[in-house]
Amino acid sequence: MTKVITYGTYDLLHYGHINLLKNAKALGDYLIVGVTADDFDKQRGKINVKQSLMERIAALSQTGIADEIIVEEYEGQKIDDIKKYDIDIFTVGSDWVGKFDYLNKYCKVVYLPRTEGISSSGIRKKDRKVSLGLVGETNYLNKVENECNYVNGINLEAVCTKDSSCLSEQIRNLKISTDDFDTLLDKVDALYIRSKPELHYEQISKALDHKIHVLCESPLAMNKEEWKELKAKAKEKKVILMEALKTAYSTAYSRLILLAKSGMIGDIVSVDATCTSLDNNIGRSHWDCIYEWGPTALLPVFQLFGINEKNCSIKVRYIDENKEHDGFIKADIVFPKSVATIKIGNTVKSEGELIISGTKGYIYVPSPWWKTDYFELRFEDPSQNRRYFYQLEGEGIRYELVAFAQSIELCKDMSNISDTVSEGIIEFVEQYHKKNNVIEI
Ligand code: CTP
Repeated sequence: MTKVITYGTYDLLHYGHINLLKNAKALGDYLIVGVTADDFDKQRGKINVKQSLMERIAALSQTGIADEIIVEEYEGQKIDDIKKYDIDIFTVGSDWVGKFDYLNKYCKVVYLPRTEGISSSGIRKKDRKVSLGLVGETNYLNKVENECNYVNGINLEAVCTKDSSCLSEQIRNLKISTDDFDTLLDKVDALYIRSKPELHYEQISKALDHKIHVLCESPLAMNKEEWKELKAKAKEKKVILMEALKTAYSTAYSRLILLAKSGMIGDIVSVDATCTSLDNNIGRSHWDCIYEWGPTALLPVFQLFGINEKNCSIKVRYIDENKEHDGFIKADIVFPKSVATIKIGNTVKSEGELIISGTKGYIYVPSPWWKTDYFELRFEDPSQNRRYFYQLEGEGIRYELVAFAQSIELCKDMSNISDTVSEGIIEFVEQYHKKNNVIEI
């Protein structure tokens, strides 16, 4: 019996796939099809896949062409599979010519002609695209512009800025460029906002009134009342309002939170998060560190401990005589059975690590933890230690934009940040401004 194996994503199964599968089957007597796992696709940069692994397997199975379906989960698995299943022929479409010649050592490699004129990405691109506008004055927008190129379903078309001096050529050359926010509202379906946080409430509110979807950097507003109002308005207008915090979209970060919650390090007693960067823009487009770093540092705290019954003391170092602008904050947040410390600054430099301490061990994320692809589980007995690595593309911004595009398409919030976490961040910002339990250093 001649056994044949082939692999693919098989998203939105089309006749190109069917032709390939029939031709693959005709090469032998028994066909095994390897379907890529969601994580594996993400790792190799295929982030726009529409269907889940189970949906893709179900569609493939319905064709009745495959004798057996397996899941491809890791780099190098093909060699393992060829040995494990006694494969005689490995085959894929001609778009891969040469790429799998290394498998000739293990079995025969055949490249079958690819069907012209159809592909999963082609079908996905035909989907309606959301026209996106950027809002703000910081060079962070340049990163967002770049990441938009990798996301199906988003067409970056406009920018609204009062100062384009730090923006890239690509942004300056966008079809629509304006310094008037209201002008932008008639031109786009969705906005990414990274303006000064004091402007968020008004800008989001206007955008929602125009039924425009919004992805806005955290915090969404300056107090809980405004935040609640915006959430209600988004619901009423049936549009997506998502909080942007790229760290929440890093795979390594999401996994370490899950591991912590699953009890691997016992009961979690303490979270220590440090985020600092030295800001060269003081006096120009300076952001207080409460906004620049506060939401990021607070993210693991509220994700792990929730927001109930907390007591918070904040120490702040101001950078001006009027005490309006901060440059460093250290805060202790006390929960009934745990405590968190955040240390954030843009005029003070420190080691940007995250440590989550538990009764059985701790999770260590090296600097800069907010764009991490790596972390360690550490125990008293070092032989129990574990290391984890997950590929991170575009600092998490890319996945954040994918989640935003998917939320719009499915009319369903696909955000990685829960309302509880948002509420915790808003409450912290509010307390800070009211100077409750705030000590100047
Ligand atoms: N294939 C083919 N003809 C096509 C499209 C795909 O023969 N028009 C083959 C590929 O060569 C591969 C298999 O089908 O052997 C699965 O490919 P996959 O990457 O899942 O499909 P694509 O449509 O190429 O997906 P994408 O556009 O996302 O790359």
